[in-house]
Amino acid sequence: MAARHGTALVTGASSGIGELYADRLARRGYDLVLVGRNAEKLGTLASSLAAKHGVKVESLVADLGDAAGLSEVERRLDSDASITLLVNSAGLIGGGPLSDGNLDALSQMLAVNVVALTRLASVAAKVFSARGTGAIINLASAMALIDNAGAAAYAASKAYVLSLSLSLDLDVKPKGVQVQAVLPGYTRTPMISDGAGLPDSVVMDADAMVDAALAGFDSGELVTIPSLESPAAFDAWVEKRADLWPHLSLSIPAPRYTAAKASAA
Ligand SMILES: NC(=O)c1ccc[n+]([C@@H]2O[C@H](COP(=O)([O-])OP(=O)(O)OC[C@H]3O[C@@H](n4cnc5c(N)ncnc54)[C@H](OP(=O)(O)O)[C@@H]3O)[C@@H](O)[C@H]2O)c1
Repeated sequence: MAARHGTALVTGASSGIGELYADRLARRGYDLVLVGRNAEKLGTLASSLAAKHGVKVESLVADLGDAAGLSEVERRLDSDASITLLVNSAGLIGGGPLSDGNLDALSQMLAVNVVALTRLASVAAKVFSARGTGAIINLASAMALIDNAGAAAYAASKAYVLSLSLSLDLDVKPKGVQVQAVLPGYTRTPMISDGAGLPDSVVMDADAMVDAALAGFDSGELVTIPSLESPAAFDAWVEKRADLWPHLSLSIPAPRYTAAKASAA
């Protein structure tokens, strides 16, 4: 019999990475609240996970890009004291290059990848901090670290999730709450169902990705990049970034700019 951990609320549970999280968390003994728009898929998954793992599984059908749907999930997180883990996996890639001007598609993507994820993380941070326990897993992407002309807003949304998670950790870790940002590379799910013309060597199976991410979670990693062998490589990037901090806000401009102005006068 698996240990009891409380309830995990998993967004994007109707497909891909979120669906795998639901399976693995149920196997660990978590009860589940599965969030997505596809009621049929959620219902089928809920029945099968409950039967397979002997846990309580409930579907919460909600469109996270819609204010009413999002509020319903926020209310659940806020009011259900059994919830001990939020997995923010819902997300989409859309809009294409900014120069295509697909404004509605860009907004729909940002509503889920940025606005919904932030609001749910905030509610969870508030209630978990008050209880002095709980965990928040945010699905970012390796694209957080890669500039991409064809998916600029998607990449930026994932850079946002990474940045949000790093700052959120500073806020809630002292209050007993664990935060993890997961940065998968290409992962075999319906999101990249056409394979996107990618070689097999750069695409990970979703079950291997989620198992690696959960191993990172178990070891308390703040940032998990499932394919990265040496965490020192990421730590070096973080340290390089921190090297800039003493230079980012000073009372006077850098001499190279004032010298340029003086020579132009
Ligand atoms: N696959 C990759 O290569 C990859 C790589 C790095 C990061 N990621 C990230 O991992 C996360 C999961 O991606 P995936 O590959 O599992 O994609 P997926 O198979 O397409 O699943 C996306 C999930 O998001 C949910 N979703 C999308 N829009 C929603 C909305 N408006 N309201 C509620 N739920 C919504 C979908 O549920 P419904 O359709 O039922 O609403 C679905 O369950 C995403 O955040 C993605 O950016 C994926």
